[in-house]
Amino acid sequence: MNLKGVLKGVSGGNEINKLIKSYDIIGDIIIIRIRPELESKKDIIAEALHKIYPRVKTIATVPLYAHTHELYRTREVHVIWGDENLETMHRESGCIFKVDLRHVFFSPRLAYERVRIARKVAPGETIINTFSGAGCFSIIIAKFQPQSRIYSIDVNPYAYEYMKENVALNRVEGQVIPILGDASEELRKLEGVADRVLMPLPEHAYSFLPLAVRALKRGGGVIHYYDVSAGKRGGDLFKVPLERVRAIISSTFGSLRMEVEDSRILRSVAPRKYHVVLDLRVAKR
Ligand SMILES: C[S@@+](CC[C@H](N)C(=O)[O-])C[C@H]1O[C@@H](n2cnc3c(N)ncnc32)[C@H](O)[C@@H]1O
Repeated sequence: MNLKGVLKGVSGGNEINKLIKSYDIIGDIIIIRIRPELESKKDIIAEALHKIYPRVKTIATVPLYAHTHELYRTREVHVIWGDENLETMHRESGCIFKVDLRHVFFSPRLAYERVRIARKVAPGETIINTFSGAGCFSIIIAKFQPQSRIYSIDVNPYAYEYMKENVALNRVEGQVIPILGDASEELRKLEGVADRVLMPLPEHAYSFLPLAVRALKRGGGVIHYYDVSAGKRGGDLFKVPLERVRAIISSTFGSLRMEVEDSRILRSVAPRKYHVVLDLRVAKR
């Protein structure tokens, strides 16, 4: 039975219609978003979830308008049932990721995107993952394409520690190179080395775009550029992000040949707001 079904049995009234139906299961932790109107029902919600998933150790909520850490992108999380410790092991695409959900960004909703990118990587590629968190994109790429090398950068010291541990857990040492630092400084050190640059920080990726282009090899390469787009599904959600990219590239480099190889809506993040990705092939000569 689903969550609404279980709840109907224990709580009357229309409140249940206000329930956000989706929730994330990350390792042995469930994270659910709760509207303020349902705050008083959180124990009933936790009981119902526990009935459906008796093996979870923690059930936690993220408020609907949760504070997000500006730099590390972690969200405010409150445990409503079980263990307060939010460290867990999550399995995804044949890999295992250790994360602490209080200190490191992690979303299982990016599972498809991680595999989509990994499938594009050709043997021998050098990749820079500029905003790598606990290393999930980097490690999945390394597993899917053993003949690749991935520089994996994050500014959050917790993310860096988990990334190092995850690299060891998944036996990709030497192939994934964890780097603790700000992408703007680290990209400068990696000028001209990459066949592919990943920029999974939709809110701010645009400001790192010139450095990402410089990090590509002399002949050019591919940039996976993430952005936030406002509009309607079914409308052209890629138009504004693409105009932004073109404006940044032309004001920095003048004319550079660039084509969009692929584009995708990742998810809705607020009413009429979406995370999108553009796969850009950039020719530098
Ligand atoms: C949305 S998360 C992406 C996480 C990761 N790609 C994943 O698959 O789980 C963005 C990450 O970028 C990092 N970050 C934000 N600003 C940064 C910067 N200037 N330099 C390096 N990392 C940064 C944050 O610490 C966070 O871990």
